[in-house]
Amino acid sequence: MSGPRVLILGPPGAGKGTQSSNIADEFDVEHITTGDALRANKDMDISDMDTEYDTPREYMEAGDLVPDAVVNAIVEEALTSADGFVLDGYPRNLEQAEELEGMTDLDVILSLDVSREELVDRLTGRRVCDDCGANYHVEFNQPEEEGVCDECGGELIQRDDDNEESVNNRLDVFEENTLPVIEHYEDDDAFVAIDGEQTPDEVWADIEAAIEDAN
Ligand code: AP5
Ligand code: MG
Ligand code: ZN
Repeated sequence: MSGPRVLILGPPGAGKGTQSSNIADEFDVEHITTGDALRANKDMDISDMDTEYDTPREYMEAGDLVPDAVVNAIVEEALTSADGFVLDGYPRNLEQAEELEGMTDLDVILSLDVSREELVDRLTGRRVCDDCGANYHVEFNQPEEEGVCDECGGELIQRDDDNEESVNNRLDVFEENTLPVIEHYEDDDAFVAIDGEQTPDEVWADIEAAIEDAN
């Protein structure tokens, strides 16, 4: 049997990355994430795509969306080699949602709901492993040894866009561009709203049940 095709939606800091790792491990599917793919290619030359800036870096540091043509190509390529997947960070506007419809069907559409105030706390306190990308939080999800990744011993750093100014812009960009995407999927039979303000374990229990139900 092929793995489930899962879309995970939610604002910056909702826990998409944290929960996608659980989904990928438990259901043995690929974690496709435009944010990580772009961070790994921040300085790639995108000038031939008729963009305002020549690399993704400028968009990302400000918390603005990278142009659609760039992210559509990343997702299209990743999907061709994936059997089951969890898609995290895409689509972020209605144009991308329309593109995705031409690329694949979806078995489950998860939407993580978290208040804006909580999101700011989560993002400004987040630390990520520079080597393996594992997520931590200075208060909510501490590593065993400060500054060191539990998984691989790598150094924990703060993302360039996790400062207060970029965080606020990212949340505004979400409300303007991505909230309409969530509303667009709300009537779909595969849509499941998840209370993302619970503890990570409680959120995971709800997600696991939703995916099992859909299979
Ligand atoms: P991206 O990397 O996707 O960032 P994001 O959407 O802003 O989301 P985050 O990764 O910040 O949050 P998350 O939901 O994954 O939360 P996490 O699990 O880490 O995108 C970055 C940039 O790339 C964009 O701004 C844009 O420029 C560009 N980009 C990407 N995709 C694009 C697209 N499709 N189109 C155009 N541009 C695109 O959790 C956050 C923190 O909270 C962690 O510290 C974690 O430990 C903690 N936490 C998690 N769950 C809980 C919980 N239940 N309780 C308490 N704390 C928790
Ligand atoms: Mg993420
Ligand atoms: Zn690590």
